[in-house]
Amino acid sequence: MTTTQLSVAGAALPRTTVARERTATALALLLLLAGCTTIKRCSYEGFGRDESQKPEEVVETLDIEPGDQVADLGSGSGYFTFRLADAVGSSGKVYAVEVDESMNEYLAGLVKERGAENVQIVLASPDDPRLPEESIDLLFTSNTFHHIEDRPAYFRRVKRVLAPGGRVAIIDYREDAGWFVSLFGHGTSPDVIEREMKEAGYEVVARPDILEEQTFLVFAPRDGGTEDG
Ligand SMILES: C[S@@+](CC[C@H](N)C(=O)[O-])C[C@H]1O[C@@H](n2cnc3c(N)ncnc32)[C@H](O)[C@@H]1O
Repeated sequence: MTTTQLSVAGAALPRTTVARERTATALALLLLLAGCTTIKRCSYEGFGRDESQKPEEVVETLDIEPGDQVADLGSGSGYFTFRLADAVGSSGKVYAVEVDESMNEYLAGLVKERGAENVQIVLASPDDPRLPEESIDLLFTSNTFHHIEDRPAYFRRVKRVLAPGGRVAIIDYREDAGWFVSLFGHGTSPDVIEREMKEAGYEVVARPDILEEQTFLVFAPRDGGTEDG
C-alpha cells in the first residue's frame, strides 16, 4: 500500500481510500436521481465491501447449525440475511428485523426473487425487535449497534427472545475506521460495546479477530437468559 497520506476531516487517509471515497461520492450524487431506497442500499452495501467485510468468513465463524433460528437485526438490504439463510438451511429460519419499511419492501422483493422461504421479514420498532419469545439461537447485528438508543435497556429486553444457549453477535465499525465513520458517528468503540453489553447482563464468549475495520464480538447472557440479569 502507498505511504502517501492526505488529510480529510482531521483523519489521515491513504490515497487508495481517497480515490474510493471520491468514487463513492460521485456515485452517491448520481444515485440521488435514482431514489431513496437505492441510495440507502448502496451506502449499506458499499463499493467492494466484501473485501474488508469477509461475509462468508464471518458467517462461518458463527458456528450456525442447520435448523437454527437467527435474527439479522438491522437487516437493511439483506447483505448478511441471505448468507445467514444459507447457513440455517431449509429447516431453519432467519428473521430479517428492520425499522425501515422501504428497506423491508426492497428485501421482500429479493426474498421472492430468490425463493428464500426461510427468511421472514419483521417490521421492528426502534426499542423492540418484535421477535417471538425464547426463539432465537443467534441474534446477529452488523453496522447497526450505533443506531440503537439506550442499548443496555434494548439488549436487556433482547434476552427474553433468546432461546436457551442463545447468543448475540455484534459487528460495528470502530470509531477510528475512517473519516466517514468519525464524521457521522457511524461506529462504536469496542470498549463501549463491551461495557454496555455487560450492563445489559451479557458476557463475551468469542472475539473473532478477522475484521480490520470493525469490532466483532459474540456475547451470551450471564444468567442464562432472564431479562432482569
Ligand atoms: C448501516 S445499515 C446496516 C445494514 C446491514 N446490517 C448491513 O450490514 O449491510 C443499519 C440498518 O439498521 C436499521 N436500524 C436502525 N435502528 C434499528 C433498530 N432499532 N432496529 C432494527 N433496525 C434498525 C436501519 O434502518 C438500517 O437499515
